[in-house]
Amino acid sequence: MNYSLTEITHNMIDWAMAHIGDKSYAGWCLSFIEDALEISNDIEIFGCDSAKESCEMYRDALRTGIPEQGAFVFYDCLCPSEDGPVNWGHCGIALDDGSVIHAWDKVRIDHYLDVEALTALTGDHPKYIGWVPVTRVLAEKPHDGEARNPLLDLILARRSYRGKFQSTPVPRDDLRSIMEAGLAAPSGCNKQTTSLIAVDDPEMLQKLRAVIQPPVGETAPAMICVLTQRICAYRDRCFAVRDYSAAIENMLLAIKALGYQSCWYEGHITDVDRIGAQMAKILGVPDEYELVCVLPVGVALDEIRSPKKKAFDERAWFNAFPTVE
Ligand SMILES: Cc1cc2nc3c(=O)[nH]c(=O)nc-3n(C[C@H](O)[C@H](O)[C@H](O)COP(=O)(O)O)c2cc1C
Repeated sequence: MNYSLTEITHNMIDWAMAHIGDKSYAGWCLSFIEDALEISNDIEIFGCDSAKESCEMYRDALRTGIPEQGAFVFYDCLCPSEDGPVNWGHCGIALDDGSVIHAWDKVRIDHYLDVEALTALTGDHPKYIGWVPVTRVLAEKPHDGEARNPLLDLILARRSYRGKFQSTPVPRDDLRSIMEAGLAAPSGCNKQTTSLIAVDDPEMLQKLRAVIQPPVGETAPAMICVLTQRICAYRDRCFAVRDYSAAIENMLLAIKALGYQSCWYEGHITDVDRIGAQMAKILGVPDEYELVCVLPVGVALDEIRSPKKKAFDERAWFNAFPTVE
């Protein structure tokens, strides 16, 4: 059955309204809004595991302010889990008067901002993020029906992972592919100031971990150490930091593309206690190189978390910096 957008929206809202007071969706806010849209219209939409993940998926179309009728409305919200509170988020469907129908303790209606006054089992309160129009939710292939580019999806899905890793080894071919991606990055005046060492030998990993304090990537079966050389690229200008930054981002994306997780660990590696220098010594790195970053590589054991990012409009514009109103 092919419905118009208006019919789809009304069918969804009618279905949701018929479930007011239903306690079976308590704690299943995303299932509730997905069921409302899917069951009432006999369609399937692309599903996610949590409201937060769903919100991330639609982030390109996320808007703030009063949600329009039928919009999926998203909140940050800490939920209980075996590992402690996790931001799985909260969500509902916007009605035509700024209120939201959503599954909390039961299916209920609250003004979209009054939802923030509710208390989750963690004691946390939902925090309004924004809304996406139902057209975006229905877009099987986002961006107005264009096939979504898998590389862009990968870039948007990359997250810093600081959890534990599975013991599954990372094959050498994969480590090589990741390093090739790093070395393929642009570098100022093509000086190629970045070099890499992948460590997968358990004894060497052990030695390196002994100096990384506080520990990072402790359980990772492999790590990639990033080395840089201060070579002048143009007159007295050295682009080494930009060079290795580009290489690191390429590697983070390659790591993700191959099904692994990682995090850019540079902060305390290059701090005053000179952990990077100690690691370089263990690895036999010559003096003219500096070890500036460590990327653990492995299959994630824990949940991959998403930090809150500012909205697109707060950081990116077209043609000119926005004028202050
Ligand atoms: C230059 C740089 C240094 C970083 N150093 C660290 C670090 O020492 N420890 C850490 O946990 N994360 C580090 N990160 C990761 C950032 O904390 C992370 O990218 C940021 O919180 C955004 O999260 P996301 O990567 O999931 O988007 C670093 C990132 C960059 C770009």
